[in-house]
Amino acid sequence: MATTKSEKDYSIYFQPPSLTDAKKRGKEDIQVHYDFGIPEELQELGKDKLYLIQTYGCQMNEHDTETIKGLLEQMGYRATEDRHAADIILLNTCAVRENAEDKVFGELGHLSHLKREKPSLILGVCGCMSQEESVVNRILKKHPFVDLIFGTHNIHRLPFLVKEAMFSKEMVIEVWSKEGDIIENLPKKREGIKAWVNIMYGCDKFCTYCIVPYTRGKERSRRPEDVIAEVRELARQGFKEIMLLGQNVNAYGKDFEDIEYRFGDLMDDIRKIDIPRVRFTTSHPRDFDDHLIEVLAKKGNLMEHIHLPVQSGSNEILKRMSRKYTREHYLELVRKIKAAMPDVVLTTDIIVGFPGETEEQFEETISLVKEVGYDFAFTFIYSPREGTPAADMEDSVPQEVKSARLKRLNDALNVYMKQSNERLKGQTLEVLVEGESKNNANVLAARSRTNKLVHFEGPKELIGQFVKVYITDTPTFYIKGDWVQEAVAN
Ligand code: SAH
Ligand code: SF4
Ligand code: F3S
Repeated sequence: MATTKSEKDYSIYFQPPSLTDAKKRGKEDIQVHYDFGIPEELQELGKDKLYLIQTYGCQMNEHDTETIKGLLEQMGYRATEDRHAADIILLNTCAVRENAEDKVFGELGHLSHLKREKPSLILGVCGCMSQEESVVNRILKKHPFVDLIFGTHNIHRLPFLVKEAMFSKEMVIEVWSKEGDIIENLPKKREGIKAWVNIMYGCDKFCTYCIVPYTRGKERSRRPEDVIAEVRELARQGFKEIMLLGQNVNAYGKDFEDIEYRFGDLMDDIRKIDIPRVRFTTSHPRDFDDHLIEVLAKKGNLMEHIHLPVQSGSNEILKRMSRKYTREHYLELVRKIKAAMPDVVLTTDIIVGFPGETEEQFEETISLVKEVGYDFAFTFIYSPREGTPAADMEDSVPQEVKSARLKRLNDALNVYMKQSNERLKGQTLEVLVEGESKNNANVLAARSRTNKLVHFEGPKELIGQFVKVYITDTPTFYIKGDWVQEAVAN
């Protein structure tokens, strides 16, 4: 008789992240592992088979997908865009807001049909949602056709888990809530001219609205020599731009016990590597120190764009968000950055409708936006995340009011975005040509040093190169110009 596993049996593989335990984190040693390899017998497992991965969420997740692709390709799998042809489909998920999760559950509904048509298909869920106990339970109950669930700390285990999923009739679940070691030397399938590089993992900030510290574990930095070696290798391979990744890059190195080496030091070392463009995300205003400003002001391959999430302009809300800075501190930081780099472009993230946000507190956000003059912002309506402190805070603000505030905020932001774009009219910018524009194959899409999207007409051979563009027009979400035909260094 076939046995069906109860939820209880899965606890052997599944240590659900405990929010209380996560808060107590800190003392466990971080181990860096350099001995990663895929056993020979697993390297043939995906021969003549195809994979497809759908990625949701932030750049950290996008980069994890590159690792997952790298692992699958070392197992012999090849990529496909056709879900009917795929032998394995993975959803690399995001848990940051409810609508991100809804999308994934909707997608699982669609995929159930595919699974019925092709029972040999391996269907997996990974990424941040897998780290949530409630999500795993919901999949067990409502989407039992899923074959594999693995967490953000288990990516390196993928070859073993795929094998298990292939030969097991049960759902394979492996989610570790342990603080997370660092696994070096994982294969990565990078494409194009830009490369992501993790400099740290996890987050210890515990902003009261945010799920990330629970889904990504403890803050831990990669060793400087490992980051630098990776950047050097990417430069050697001909990548034109790297994006250094961390939930809070300014906390880089705080966890090193043997060396005094922080984000400013890392940037100063990477500045000397022969790679044309270096960017980073995300900067938490609290840990942004003067040394970092000094290093960034040296420019060269360090781009004059800083994404500096503020979340709110109200001190009371910032306090309840546990952001650990005030409006005044943030504005002072902006003043220092602008003094050191007058042509800097600042972008941000803002949440409206945090529990109990009053009209006046919201107005303080609008006034901060006006004071800073951001070039762009990602704006969100607060979305309660189960288990986070803010989810238990009293909230009497109706949803319609929150939506109206979001619109007012976006209208205010658009004014500044337009103004800053208009200032570029008549200037000649150095841009990196990334590819064809999404809507018009005759137009090329490029990025300025400040990360502005620039459209212009030119031959496809320019893709991957640096060129100069004379800016003629500035519609809101991109700027337009004419190619100035002269060679640019790099
Ligand atoms: N580590 C980054 C943010 C990662 S999440 C930082 O601290 O800047 C990206 C953005 O999502 C956040 O900046 C925040 O604006 C938004 N966000 C996070 N949790 C949210 C929630 N519960 N509801 C709405 N927006 C949220
Ligand atoms: Fe979330 Fe705050 Fe950490 Fe950013 S710093 S990931 S918003 S807890
Ligand atoms: Fe989402 Fe996880 Fe990134 S929750 S925003 S994918 S760290």
